[in-house]
Amino acid sequence: MLLQESLHPSLTDPILDVMNFLNEVALRFPEAISFAPGRPNEQFYDARQLSSYLDEYVRYLSQERGLTEPQIRTQLFQYGRTNGQIHELIARMLEKDEGIRTTPESIVVTVGCQEGMFISLRALFSKPDEVLLVGMPCYIGITGAARLLGIEIVPVPEREDGLDLEALEARLRALQAEGKRARALYLVTDFSNPSGRSLPLPARRRLLEIAARAELLIIEDNPYGFFFREGPRKPTLKSMDDRQQVIYLGSFSKSAFPGLRVGYAVVDQQVVNATGKRHLLAEEFSKIKSLLSVNTPSISQAIIGGMLVMHGGGLLEANREAIRFYKENMDAALQALERHFPRNEAWAQGVTWNVPDGGFFLVMKLPIEADDALLEQSARSYQVLWTPMRYFYLGTGGEHEIRLSCSYLTPARIEEGISRLARLIKAAVEQQPSRTLKAS
Ligand SMILES: Cc1ncc(COP(=O)(O)O)c(C=O)c1O
Repeated sequence: MLLQESLHPSLTDPILDVMNFLNEVALRFPEAISFAPGRPNEQFYDARQLSSYLDEYVRYLSQERGLTEPQIRTQLFQYGRTNGQIHELIARMLEKDEGIRTTPESIVVTVGCQEGMFISLRALFSKPDEVLLVGMPCYIGITGAARLLGIEIVPVPEREDGLDLEALEARLRALQAEGKRARALYLVTDFSNPSGRSLPLPARRRLLEIAARAELLIIEDNPYGFFFREGPRKPTLKSMDDRQQVIYLGSFSKSAFPGLRVGYAVVDQQVVNATGKRHLLAEEFSKIKSLLSVNTPSISQAIIGGMLVMHGGGLLEANREAIRFYKENMDAALQALERHFPRNEAWAQGVTWNVPDGGFFLVMKLPIEADDALLEQSARSYQVLWTPMRYFYLGTGGEHEIRLSCSYLTPARIEEGISRLARLIKAAVEQQPSRTLKAS
């Protein structure tokens, strides 16, 4: 028998249970309408597409890259280049879809964006006085990875319009006064998970200036950027980054599909060694990746490669239908909320929600506590699932908020799910006036 206390202390941190909760809650209540997981909708997938993407990649290697049959065999069946084999295609895609100009050598193809987070943190953090700033509420993938690596996390609150830059500047000053160094800031700039918020364009410019002054690196994570509801799309921080301050993390989990487990990091920062020689930070990432996953599976890369070639180099156009679908789902959720939470009814007063410009998520504020007991009641008695927002805070925060993810459902299921949610909240508010009072 092993004593829990003999294992790494982060393993008892509640953050480490959330990812599994999100993945498993829908399995526990298979009949429930689930607003919990931020999964892409499966209606866009067809198993027969996989072989045509692979065929297209093989054709590309042979006809456009001039590889021989034995070379293609090695490429697909062998261990591969640590930083990936579709880096050139990804560089082309980034220019086409995001206006990000970079070199293929700056790209690290990762096992999902999740590996990119892990490698970034491992590479950047070397001293105990260095802290990671995160927009709060925050995606568990980064806070969990920081916990596993023993990196101190300092939250910076979000406002309704994204990261609070005044609070960021105040945190930077406070950290300096404490003798600590803010090494990096992690941020989802577009349609954040969990809040659905996006940083306005002027704030993006200001954030880059603040980061330059503070010598702060920004880890920009952008899995949802395609899925805008209200255009135009805003430029990523990376596309505006002329000082190599931004490490850009991309994911194919939403623009293609999560079963691939492929993401990438754009790491164009220069590193100077003790003798004054310079090299790319991507080369340091390669050392870490070689011991974490050796290389990203070639077959997954080949499928993405084929997809990119087939769609003329980018994925934005290929996602038009999905973009429309997620917009319609978000519209359906917002309209259903208006209908089922009438502002003139006493029980619904104090229920509010944000109106994201895109993405998969929105946040509701409730006049009651959104705890595990309410979620259990919601699942068992009303057959509707959602995620308590407190899971995305460190310590306190989000106690009266829930996250609704609209991606995995259809508009009809969203309508039914919101009506169930309204019944749950009406009953909880009316049955528990003391909870309501406590909350207000
Ligand atoms: C903000 C954010 N980053 C990264 C990811 C995961 O990316 P990947 O599947 O590529 O590891 C997600 C998935 O939910 C996410 O919401």
